[in-house]
Amino acid sequence: MNIKIKSLKQKVDSDLSVIVLDATELKKAKDAKVLQNAGFKASQDEVLILHESALLYAGIEIFDNDSIRSTMAQIVQKLQATKYKNVSFTCNNLDILQASIEGLILGNYKFDVYKSKKNDFALKNITIQVNVKVLSQAKEIVENATIIANATNFSRDLVNTTPEDMTPPELAKVSKKLAKENALTCNILKESDLKKEKMNAMLAVGRASRHESHLIHLSYVPKNPKKVLSLVGKGLTYDSGGLSLKPASSMVTMKMDKAGACAVLGMIKAISELKLDIEVHAFIGAVENMLDGTAYKPDDVLISKKGDSIEVRNTDAEGRLVLADVLTYAQEKVKADYIFDYATLTGACMVALGQYTIGVMGHSSALKHKLSSASSKSGELMGSLPFNRHLKKLIKSEIADICNVGAKPYGGAITAGLFLDNFIEEKMKQKWLHFDIAGAAYSESSWDVNTYGATGAGVRITVAFAKNLCEAKSKY
Ligand code: BES
Ligand code: ZN
Ligand code: ZN
Repeated sequence: MNIKIKSLKQKVDSDLSVIVLDATELKKAKDAKVLQNAGFKASQDEVLILHESALLYAGIEIFDNDSIRSTMAQIVQKLQATKYKNVSFTCNNLDILQASIEGLILGNYKFDVYKSKKNDFALKNITIQVNVKVLSQAKEIVENATIIANATNFSRDLVNTTPEDMTPPELAKVSKKLAKENALTCNILKESDLKKEKMNAMLAVGRASRHESHLIHLSYVPKNPKKVLSLVGKGLTYDSGGLSLKPASSMVTMKMDKAGACAVLGMIKAISELKLDIEVHAFIGAVENMLDGTAYKPDDVLISKKGDSIEVRNTDAEGRLVLADVLTYAQEKVKADYIFDYATLTGACMVALGQYTIGVMGHSSALKHKLSSASSKSGELMGSLPFNRHLKKLIKSEIADICNVGAKPYGGAITAGLFLDNFIEEKMKQKWLHFDIAGAAYSESSWDVNTYGATGAGVRITVAFAKNLCEAKSKY
């Protein structure tokens, strides 16, 4: 699907025109009577095609970014079932153009790699007409929105790939390819290197897998970076739970446990293509959590790269073990202004915030506030989960420095966050945020701009944050 920008004066080759309107505009519409007879109320996400007039009407609640993103996704999905090839619409408001394009590209996403019959949608061109005065500005907005949406879809593709096809070595290969295409530097550590680095917590998780664990480090270093951003991703290419085996029904969809890693790859792809003046380092712990005679066990004590001992009481709380070592490595290698980690870390986060909201944790209210503004801008939902010293006591261990699960069944997203906090250096405490994307990363039913499967959660909010960093004054 191509998206083109033209001025209102230019000739457009179109089989169907799109009209987005709210309930107040409905009465004034050219086809008001027909629309009324069809029962069309212009409510949010309502789409109706009048084939004889070659018009598509779509309802919207208010003309804001969140609504238009969703409306556009519904429009493109409606068009997938038709034979229209060239569709056009007019955009009078540049403020919602980026969200419109994101809605179109994200809503058009379908993962058909494993289908014998591939999707072959008729829709080829979408032309957006704007006032000639804003043509070049509109072109730039479309370019940027396309980069962000495509990077999100790139991340979705990786997450949706089966655990048999997207193993830790394969994730390393994909990362290498991305590095080559986007002129990033790439360093990959295999198990012998991880042993030298004393990353015993990460190694223990991957020990029963037939695939070697890998640590992937990609960097984007522009000429005059304004800030340095380290992004750390949980890359569990499969999470069976290990010896603390998951129940059968919970295991289905656990290919998504690499979503943090794939999001981080999407972020560095987008930021490098947008050529933002931000130095970005992506660190990924690519591991498979399986079980055999060599598997790590509940009751084991692991000595992390940081040197702290960890009592394992549940091998299904594996993500935090991998991240503990990768966070330590990342802090040792790069002196960053911000360090963010992304992980499908806990089912408890979904219980706390619901399936659609990313849980954000950290010590700096100011930083969380900045993310909250990136959340509003990008349309990715986030909620802040507060740390407190009482919950911190729950991960104390009688026999080691820390325990990998909380002693009580409540506050599981926060105790997981506090476990990670143990591995954040004192000078980085205010610069660190943890994003629990367990709910938002994957869904077996569509919502907002998300179709079945992976959503690419984290990419848009983080790119919005990085863009803000570039645009803001020095105090930001
Ligand atoms: N990968 C899971 C978390 C998860 C659950 C992600 C559901 C997406 C959907 C994680 O490794 C895990 O198993 N966490 C356990 C922690 C528990 C053992 C303390 C959980 O959430 O049950
Ligand atoms: Zn697990
Ligand atoms: Zn997991």
